[in-house]
Amino acid sequence: MAQSTSLSAHLSSLISGHPNRTALAQDVIPSLLKTLPSIAQALRTTSVSQAGSANTFGDDQLNVDVLAESLIRSAIASVPSITTASSEEDPVEKAAYQGTSSSEQREKYTIAFDPLDGSSIIGPNWTVGTIIGIWDGETALSDTRTPRERQVVSILGVLGPRTSAVVAVRLPGTEGSVFEVSLTDDGAVEVLRLSVRLNDSPKTRYFAPANLRCAAENERYAALVNHYIQQKYTLRYSGGLVPDVYHALVKGHGIYTSPVTEKSPAKLRRLYELTPIALLIECAGGVALDSVDGTHVLDRPVKDTDERGGLVCGNKEDVEFVRGQLLA
Ligand SMILES: *[C@@H]1O[C@H](CO)[C@@H](O)[C@H](O)[C@H]1NC(C)=O
Repeated sequence: MAQSTSLSAHLSSLISGHPNRTALAQDVIPSLLKTLPSIAQALRTTSVSQAGSANTFGDDQLNVDVLAESLIRSAIASVPSITTASSEEDPVEKAAYQGTSSSEQREKYTIAFDPLDGSSIIGPNWTVGTIIGIWDGETALSDTRTPRERQVVSILGVLGPRTSAVVAVRLPGTEGSVFEVSLTDDGAVEVLRLSVRLNDSPKTRYFAPANLRCAAENERYAALVNHYIQQKYTLRYSGGLVPDVYHALVKGHGIYTSPVTEKSPAKLRRLYELTPIALLIECAGGVALDSVDGTHVLDRPVKDTDERGGLVCGNKEDVEFVRGQLLA
């Protein structure tokens, strides 16, 4: 049997040659991963109800959104190198670490997270997720610097029958890579796969047509979906962004399309959804475009926490095809 690699051994290998990343590997990433089983447990043991409030974006909040938010906030409160955090539930960047800062603290990171993505499918107990982006420095926002330069890690936590996660790490000057872990309720982390890759020549081709209603008024989207049917692609779509993107990564192929039209405006948050997903997709060898204008998600600075966009992502060849059919 192959020797299994521990999380800490794998993270050390990823930061080797990067002397100022010890806290990232030893504290930031492991602490955030450990929040996932606690959110999963909270989901299993809490009956879902409206929290009676709305977040700043005006979305109704569920009690489980609030729970997931507070589990992550309390975890990062004890991580000295996480200086700043904001989330979809509380989209204002503020101090995260609640202890006494020491002047020896050289690494500084900002966390931008969506504690529970998939509110519309929580009721029927479908798989939902947690999305976390880790950015260099004391803010994720910039007028000039792109997410490609500043977001170094992203985590998609998948909360279903099992709790698992895919993690992208791309330190400046490296190509980046994605690994997959599974997590048990007691917080143990097992590395399932050291390298998750998307490829252009799979046995089975998958498509996930989000915002399908827009095909009724957009002929090009209707034609694209029809192309997948004619080409015998397999439909894999749950309506949860996290499980749908995770499906493509796990299977090694998939095209996710969420077009934006006049009647269906951009709704995915760039900071809390699009940029972390784009980092994962790129580190797995794929492409992630904003369907608003066909540009790479990671090439445009995030200036404000409320910026939104659309998404076309997946393996390279299929994304290029969509670019020609839908975004040109
Ligand atoms: C939801 O599904 C999980 C397994 O994925 C199960 O443990 C739990 O009991 C389910 N919750 C409800 C309310 O049915």
